[in-house]
Amino acid sequence: MKTNLSFIKTARDKIQLVNQKLLPQKLEYVVCKNGTDVAKAIKEMVVRGAPAIGISAAYGMYLSAWEATKKNKKLNIELFQKQKQLLDAARPTAVNLAWATQEMLAVASHFFTSDAAKAKDAQIKLLLSLYERALEIHNDDAERCLTMANNAVKYLVTKYPKEKYNILTHCNTGSLATGGIGTALGAIRILHEKGKVNMVYADETRPYMQGSRLTVYELQKDKIPVTLTIDSQAAYLMQKKMVDAIFVGADRIAINGDVANKIGTYSLSVLAKAHRIPFFVVAPQSTFDKTIATGAEIIVEERPAQEVLEIQGRPIAPKVPVINFSFDVTPQTNITAIFSEKETLE
Ligand code: MRU
Repeated sequence: MKTNLSFIKTARDKIQLVNQKLLPQKLEYVVCKNGTDVAKAIKEMVVRGAPAIGISAAYGMYLSAWEATKKNKKLNIELFQKQKQLLDAARPTAVNLAWATQEMLAVASHFFTSDAAKAKDAQIKLLLSLYERALEIHNDDAERCLTMANNAVKYLVTKYPKEKYNILTHCNTGSLATGGIGTALGAIRILHEKGKVNMVYADETRPYMQGSRLTVYELQKDKIPVTLTIDSQAAYLMQKKMVDAIFVGADRIAINGDVANKIGTYSLSVLAKAHRIPFFVVAPQSTFDKTIATGAEIIVEERPAQEVLEIQGRPIAPKVPVINFSFDVTPQTNITAIFSEKETLE
């Protein structure tokens, strides 16, 4: 299975990112020519979704080296370290970002400590290696999406057999958020391909509306039956037995299986448990943080008040203090299974 939708266009001297802030009204691209441009695009949510920001950051590291070379600057490891710091700080919760920049830094570190660094054409060789690694991170993600999505669907149809399913999903975990068909949305795409989707309920996902603006856009484009639902309606849909399973993505997964994902995921998991509905997480290995034991160690990003007080620049509330956690942490005990390209954790 393939998808015609991609969040990114790549070239040797720039990347172009779909401006996800403008979708679905406008399909416009933001041009990034270095890591600083990419960090800005990530911070401002032009590009979002854990794997997508990791992929963008990998190209950002490469582009900074390309730009420096064009300006006849000699590359050194400090440039890469600085770029990594800048990019990682753009959004702290999704670990794929720091993972991807670490992969790129490793390419540079390896190069500077090898004999290749002494060659006449050393800088060109380094640029090539960086570009190849960024491309690999990008292409690998497409492969991973397919594998994890298939794993998830196999599990669902075996353990919870049904002719057709009603699936609830939160945020956007599709081609706009990954290098391929998506994580949770990838599983939904595969399920649909098998003729087993009755309806996808897409949560709006306040305040950034990834569900209503992006998920609905992707599913409608693929002709997959979708119904938009407000976030606070989830409990009632479950009570009315309108949901057979919940599929979400992840931004960081701790060693014990606690999962950080878009704000509202935790409440869905509590509701799923109360209604005995299977709750599934689909995420690549690059989302697993092997350095933290539990979700309590996850730093949850807080976003500007403006995102809650305004909708597309229009005020919708008086100016009062706002609390705007971008993610929450779902305890592993609320999760039926986590699927990655490598394993299924029950
Ligand atoms: O704030 P966002 O839009 O970057 O949040 C995205 C999510 O929470 C997704 O569910 C997660 O990154 C998985 S995307 C494949």
